[in-house]
Amino acid sequence: MPRTAYVNGRYVDHRDAAVHVEDRGYQFADGVYEVIHLFRGRLIDAEAHLDRLDRSLGELQISWPMSRGGLRVAMRETVRRNRFATGLVYIQVTRGVAPRDHRFPAQARPSLVMTVRTIPEFPDQMRAEGVGVITIPDIRWARRDIKSVSLLPNVLGKQAAAEAGVYEAWMVDEDGLVTEGTSSNAWIVTGEGVLVTRPASHDILRGITRQVILDLASELDIPFEERSFTPDEAYEAREAFLSNSSHFVTPVTRIDDRPVANGDPGSLSVALHDRYVRFMTEFAKID
Ligand code: PDD
Repeated sequence: MPRTAYVNGRYVDHRDAAVHVEDRGYQFADGVYEVIHLFRGRLIDAEAHLDRLDRSLGELQISWPMSRGGLRVAMRETVRRNRFATGLVYIQVTRGVAPRDHRFPAQARPSLVMTVRTIPEFPDQMRAEGVGVITIPDIRWARRDIKSVSLLPNVLGKQAAAEAGVYEAWMVDEDGLVTEGTSSNAWIVTGEGVLVTRPASHDILRGITRQVILDLASELDIPFEERSFTPDEAYEAREAFLSNSSHFVTPVTRIDDRPVANGDPGSLSVALHDRYVRFMTEFAKID
């Protein structure tokens, strides 16, 4: 079945979807994005994603390409036309098309692009086997809280992970502390059973999944701390996992080629994964 993309007010065949060569997203990475999980026809936590989009746009002084309500309608219509029950919705907003000049253009309409792709309903293998990560220096800019399309360090990091035969790279800042993965937040569980993830600041992306996990931890009385940790602490952890909208909670079973604990997915990681899936299923029923 042909896929449909949304490009600046038009629903077009995915193969023909295109923006202008002088779009500032293309020339300067002057834009932001969101990835929302589509689960059984429902957009999981769409409002939280739109809140974060609003914040990213505001930080970069890019105006909304249309009203928030209008974007919601266009997003649902894009999903409807693609006829996928489960997948990922990609939304990108850039500052728009203008002659190449670093300064903000006096007049440019923000560009809005949306695509949808299908993914398997549950990443069962990742849950059952876990994934490996490597650690690499974090070479990104100082505003990682903005979900910018400027992802070159993330791309290089993910490629380094792939070349090392693992799924993700955890980036380590100048103080020797883990920030996050190239497309996910990083978590450990200490020997005392405390869930640890880095506090949300300019240093990391405030993951929507991260927030759901913290809420679930409160609900389930799982002790947690929002603090930084080192790779050494992660090597010694009882469990480790990563989180993002595409794979929810994914157990991490190897870090820099050392097994985490006995090398099997941790019980809390698996429990949180399953609880998260339940959250999505319930969400899918009521949204
Ligand atoms: N990435 N940290 C980074 C650097 C990310 O790129 C992402 C998400 C996350 C997790 O955020 P959330 O839980 O809201 O998905 C953390 C998306 C999935 C991507 O770039 O494809």
